[in-house]
Amino acid sequence: MTQTISPATSLSGTVLLPGDKSISHRYAMLAAIAEGTSIIDNFAASRDCRSTLECLRSLGAEISEKAQTVTVKGRGLRGLSAPERMLDAGNSGTTIRLLSGILAGHPFESTITGDESLSNRPMGRIIRPLRLMGAAIESRERELPPLRIRGGSLRGIRYSLPVASAQVKSCVLFAGLYGDGPTAVEETVPTRDHSEIALKEFGGTLRIQGNWIEVDPGPRLLGRRLSVPGDLSGAAFFLVAAALVPDSDLSLPGAGLNGRRRELIDYLLRAGMDLKVENETAIAGEPRGDLRVRYSAELLRQQLPPINGELAASLIDEIPVLAVLGSRVAGGLTISDARELRVKESDRISAIVTNLRAMGIDVEEKTDGFTIAGGRQLRGADIVTGNDHRIAMAFAIGALAARGETRIHNPECADVSFPGFWTMLKSVIVE
Ligand code: S3P
Repeated sequence: MTQTISPATSLSGTVLLPGDKSISHRYAMLAAIAEGTSIIDNFAASRDCRSTLECLRSLGAEISEKAQTVTVKGRGLRGLSAPERMLDAGNSGTTIRLLSGILAGHPFESTITGDESLSNRPMGRIIRPLRLMGAAIESRERELPPLRIRGGSLRGIRYSLPVASAQVKSCVLFAGLYGDGPTAVEETVPTRDHSEIALKEFGGTLRIQGNWIEVDPGPRLLGRRLSVPGDLSGAAFFLVAAALVPDSDLSLPGAGLNGRRRELIDYLLRAGMDLKVENETAIAGEPRGDLRVRYSAELLRQQLPPINGELAASLIDEIPVLAVLGSRVAGGLTISDARELRVKESDRISAIVTNLRAMGIDVEEKTDGFTIAGGRQLRGADIVTGNDHRIAMAFAIGALAARGETRIHNPECADVSFPGFWTMLKSVIVE
């Protein structure tokens, strides 16, 4: 399939965001190992979160779904049962890495795998700490999935993360629930802290001291009612769209504004975006608010602040669409310290560089990022997504501001994080 996108003259209306993907995964997993029932409103209908629900069902959790509300009957901390078949995490790195932490605490053998993209993503980063904790894990060559895990009672460890990754941090913290003593993780680069927040909400005990996060084993987690905020990383596509298309004015109610994710908002404000955050509240420790973005010609006359160091880790999921914005602002954009992009759902550095060049932009590729010459008119092109949802959506946004038509190949991959993206996009284009 192909989506053809024509240049837009203006965007207007309300963007209904899907539930946050990262938070939905965590709520579902913790609900499955809690006691009692959890009701999770605005659960992400994304393909990735469906993969998590299917894995949890195969492990014995009873899960029902009605519209965007998911009800999970928890099995208790040690109550999951051996799956009859191989667990399938699909395209979802969060599913395989976080769930492996929980599987490592269960005394049965299970195998977890994923699609072609996930089967080529590095798992050594979770295999090493889980083995240190005493879990038996086998993988395919080069530490790639499938992972065969036999767990049980684990040792509490103190572990410094060698890579800035919320998935690895969360995997070790979840495994720490099954330790013989506390488990502590050190992160020198801050990453999203949804696991820490959710663990506390379900009744876990966590201490944070400087860069160290320590979790106590054997908590009694209790099922509860929760509501997932809108996905800020999904909102990023529409924020950039409004910045690129003249006369645009979009509202995005209920976006998640977790302190480690809202760096995006601060960055866009620093860049000169006409963006307002209103009605801020927090539910279950997760802040949220309404966003309103308007086109501002001023932004396009600027240079985007360079993205490097800790900022690169904070904006890691938004870099594809920020690169598209960077190609249109007069001073361009330089991104470095973002080597992790090479091991996402696709090699995103290569995908961004190739597709920007196809749209007529000068880009210099580096191992850990790229430099984009700004101020150019994008031209319509054929976009090769490599089945990567964020590449498909980022270039669809670029297409709105391009000269000529753009064809996005395999557009259905957007469902991985933003089901209904194409309909939502069309609904805000003013004809
Ligand atoms: C995620 C963490 C990040 C992010 C991914 C979701 C999470 O991955 O890119 O989309 O939910 O913990 P890493 O932990 O690999 O950086």
